[in-house]
Amino acid sequence: MTLYEKIAERITTMIDKGVLKPGDKIPSIRQMSRQMNVSLNTVKEAYALLEDRWMILARPQSGYYVSRSNHSLDTRPKIELADLKPTEVSTEKLYKMVGEDSHNPDFIHFGISSPNHTLFPLNKFQKYFSVELRDNKKTAISYLPTPGSRELREQIAWRYAQIGCPIEPEDVIITSGCLEAIVLALSVLCNKGDTVVIESPFFPFCVLTLQQLGLNAIEVCTHPETGISLEILEYVLENNNVAACFVIPNINNPMGTIMPDKKKQRLVELLNSSGIPLIEDDTYGDICFGLNRPSICKSYDKSGSVLLCGSFSKTIAPGFRLGWIVPGRYKQQVELAKIALNYSTSSIIQLAMSRFLKSGGYDRYLRKIKTEYAKNTISTIHAVIRHFPEGTRVSSPKGGYELWVEMPKGVNSILLYEQAKQENIIIAPGAIFSSTDKYLNCIRLCTSYWSEAIQEAIKRLGKLAKNQLVY
Ligand SMILES: Cc1ncc(COP(=O)(O)O)c(C=O)c1O
Repeated sequence: MTLYEKIAERITTMIDKGVLKPGDKIPSIRQMSRQMNVSLNTVKEAYALLEDRWMILARPQSGYYVSRSNHSLDTRPKIELADLKPTEVSTEKLYKMVGEDSHNPDFIHFGISSPNHTLFPLNKFQKYFSVELRDNKKTAISYLPTPGSRELREQIAWRYAQIGCPIEPEDVIITSGCLEAIVLALSVLCNKGDTVVIESPFFPFCVLTLQQLGLNAIEVCTHPETGISLEILEYVLENNNVAACFVIPNINNPMGTIMPDKKKQRLVELLNSSGIPLIEDDTYGDICFGLNRPSICKSYDKSGSVLLCGSFSKTIAPGFRLGWIVPGRYKQQVELAKIALNYSTSSIIQLAMSRFLKSGGYDRYLRKIKTEYAKNTISTIHAVIRHFPEGTRVSSPKGGYELWVEMPKGVNSILLYEQAKQENIIIAPGAIFSSTDKYLNCIRLCTSYWSEAIQEAIKRLGKLAKNQLVY
């Protein structure tokens, strides 16, 4: 353990033992450095680590406060070698049910993860849509070329260049959401019956996609703080015939982890040495809670074998169905597959979005939503810890608006789903995040909204979970 980790451990122990309670102010960086006789930088790093784990919170001009007791997920990945073989993917029925229930306006929704619609920049989009339809009518209502609007592709490429990944506009193909990008990538890289490595737990849309394409999956566990386990991945690659690997390195859904830069680089190198392409899903990359936007695996790609996928669904509006793929050396095949599928993506949406990005408003908007989502996530964490059964653990999301909740083993999340629905609450049961029964005692909660009604719903969910343990 490094010195700063030791200091973070000491503070964690004090929180665990109740010496420091949620809401207590902890010594300033200067005071702590004097008390422990270590440098200011060491304390800063220790506090940053505790902030990452949601143990403490910095309040501007006030200091650091205990945010919660130590309820974060067990950080050791569980290695279950018996699971590391290709399995058919099937969660169709359950997922369909959650999907349908998630559209009932009478319910409180924690199920499908959607951005908070009250934060949507309505005035800007109304204006840009009208301007495009008035001044650019022919383009706005015609097919755009298959790769999409040149201006939009320039904006997307420029944003990646800002984080050290020199992508050219010609490298980008606009898609109808990230899901289309993923389907295009998988259909170009795999044949029916092939095996794809995915993370575990992994996001439900993808389960369905693999199933529809007739692909098998090997689930490699994701470390709750650093992402997919490379040791297990290496073992899997050595022992299986794998066609592609699909990873969400930034703000993984549902864990909210960000893979450290060095690990991203090692992942790309490991796959490259085995000749296996990487599908990198960066859908949430823009909404990390930290100041700096995390890097992407594509930055380390020297052979064009990383197919980078993204979208505006989680930042702006999933209903726009606007995403992209940077397919590297598979560009020609992906473009042909896109032509066969739908030729090109909605023109008017592309034109309006490229105006929004060009206006410079996107980064201001991102700052606003990131603050809001961080606040709502903390409120949800506090409510879960307060109301759920003892022994419940939660993830430490580094961005986005999803919280993974691991309840004691006796709680059945599919039963909880049915019980919660009777009370007009929809959750995402853990079972849809794997094609095995691994996460039966887990749920994912969408944290993009916060209100008294939501707080009350979490209290009711907690009560239902507690009741399951009694009977
Ligand atoms: C990680 C991740 N990638 C992709 C998608 C789908 O994105 P889109 O709505 O842009 O197709 C989702 C939606 O839940 C997601 O969580």
